[in-house]
Amino acid sequence: MGYRAVLVVMIFMIKSVCKVSSVGKEGCHPDDLKALEDFKARITYDDSHRLKTWTGVNCSKWEGISRDNITGRVTEISLPGPITKGGAPAQTTMVGELSPSLHLLSSLRVLDFIGNLTKLKSLNLNGNQISGPIPESLGNRTSLTFLDLRSNNISGAIPEPISENLINLETLFLGSNFLTGPLPENIGNMQKLVDVDLSNNKIQGGIPNSIGNLKYMTRILLNSNLLTGIIPSSFGNLQKLGVLALGHNQLEGTIPSSLGNMPSLRNLELSWNNLSGRIPSTFGRLAKLMWLSIDHNMIEGPLPESFGNLTGLSRLDLSYNQINSVLPEPFAKIGYLFVLMLQNNQFTGTISQTFLNLKNLRELNLSNNLLSGQIPFRKPLIDFPPSSYSGNRGLCGVPLGPCSISPSPAYYPEPETMGFSF
Ligand SMILES: *[C@@H]1O[C@H](CO)[C@@H](O)[C@H](O)[C@H]1NC(C)=O
Ligand SMILES: *[C@@H]1O[C@H](CO)[C@@H](O)[C@H](O)[C@H]1NC(C)=O
Ligand SMILES: *[C@@H]1O[C@H](CO)[C@@H](O)[C@H](O)[C@H]1NC(C)=O
Ligand SMILES: *[C@@H]1O[C@H](CO)[C@@H](O)[C@H](O)[C@H]1NC(C)=O
Ligand SMILES: *[C@@H]1O[C@H](CO)[C@@H](O)[C@H](O)[C@H]1NC(C)=O
Ligand SMILES: *[C@@H]1O[C@H](CO)[C@@H](O)[C@H](O)[C@H]1NC(C)=O
Ligand SMILES: *[C@@H]1O[C@H](CO)[C@@H](O)[C@H](O)[C@H]1NC(C)=O
Ligand SMILES: *[C@@H]1O[C@H](CO)[C@@H](O)[C@H](O)[C@H]1NC(C)=O
Repeated sequence: MGYRAVLVVMIFMIKSVCKVSSVGKEGCHPDDLKALEDFKARITYDDSHRLKTWTGVNCSKWEGISRDNITGRVTEISLPGPITKGGAPAQTTMVGELSPSLHLLSSLRVLDFIGNLTKLKSLNLNGNQISGPIPESLGNRTSLTFLDLRSNNISGAIPEPISENLINLETLFLGSNFLTGPLPENIGNMQKLVDVDLSNNKIQGGIPNSIGNLKYMTRILLNSNLLTGIIPSSFGNLQKLGVLALGHNQLEGTIPSSLGNMPSLRNLELSWNNLSGRIPSTFGRLAKLMWLSIDHNMIEGPLPESFGNLTGLSRLDLSYNQINSVLPEPFAKIGYLFVLMLQNNQFTGTISQTFLNLKNLRELNLSNNLLSGQIPFRKPLIDFPPSSYSGNRGLCGVPLGPCSISPSPAYYPEPETMGFSF
């Protein structure tokens, strides 16, 4: 046999070896099978009927299971509650077997099926009713890049091994559960994180400074928890962050001026906290900002002059604070602003004719301020209900009562000493 023939035979042999071990040509790995069967056994209710397909040894045929092309090991379990049935969206539910006591060890079993899935990369059980805590053993699945357990009944704290070991995790979705305890102090270890949703839980304590190490992060949702302490200034390091939601917590102190250093920020939500002080003048650098909500805090003082730079704003909610500026000229580009909520502050001055440029304004509330003068008598301003303007002693005209023919001096706008020129 010539050299070429030997080579061809060798390549053929290698190919057939590969074929034998390639996915689908043999059953699934016994460890994977055992782990998946164990998972199935603990699901007591499954109206999606996907687990009915989980029979036999060829787990390639099982719904929601994906395997590695080369090794054949299971890499993905995707059984979210929301599914598409015959083209239409439907909500299905799996309920996990819950031991009578919520004691850690017994509940561990609920999710501990991952114990043997050493190559698992992706786990999606979004929108079911899986209960019990997140098992610490999940922290041993260092191959995991995607974890979505949103909208389940998961309780307990986020185990330290998760942040310690899951260094390849890019997506961490645990929102809308019953998680308690603090955020892991070493969350900054998970260097590859891009997208985090821990919203709508009962997570307590402070936001660790190390969160500022997560330089690839594009979205952080921590809203609707029980977080306390200050907003770490290290957030300002996150150059790719587009969405930061910290609303509905118990954060206090001032808004760090470093937040103005985030060039990608589009949506900043700080509502319903105990934040005080002024809005930092660095906010004028947030050239991409579209949504800004700081309502229901204790923000005071005038708006920074640099606010006029935020020409891309489409939604601004500063209601329920103690801001005492002259009402700024609308600075947004014509037609950009959809929602403007400034009620329950101490804005002074008049509503200028420039407000008539806000062609797309859908929601406006200026009530309970110190505004005066006549509301410009044109669309869109006259289309809002009286409650958009009420509680301003000096304000008059449609949709409020008529201005008196010779208004008393109190009806004249105050001198605009603090006015802006945008
Ligand atoms: C396993 O299932 C896959 C996908 O349905 C199929 O391509 C493959 O031939 C099956 N393997 C065996 C051994 O039945
Ligand atoms: C595995 O197969 C899928 C579909 O055939 C392909 O898109 C993917 O690139 C393959 N992955 C690897 C690592 O070969
Ligand atoms: C993995 O599965 C084997 C049996 O296949 C079992 O003996 C072992 O305890 C399992 N390991 C874990 C960590 O669950
Ligand atoms: C994680 O892995 C380590 C070493 O492989 C092992 O000692 C430990 O028991 C595992 N922890 C869990 C919770 O499975
Ligand atoms: C999950 O939580 C919801 C809302 O609290 C509750 O109605 C449901 O009974 C819980 N399910 C389980 C299996 O615990
Ligand atoms: C935060 O605000 C709430 C409501 O105004 C108040 O009850 C609470 O005492 C404040 N907490 C702190 C720490 O200031
Ligand atoms: C306003 O924006 C311009 C251009 O984006 C920038 O150079 C300037 O520093 C900003 N002004 C303030 C006060 O932030
Ligand atoms: C404006 O805000 C006040 C005070 O919160 C509220 O009572 C009123 O209903 C609001 N009106 C509109 C149109 O949003």
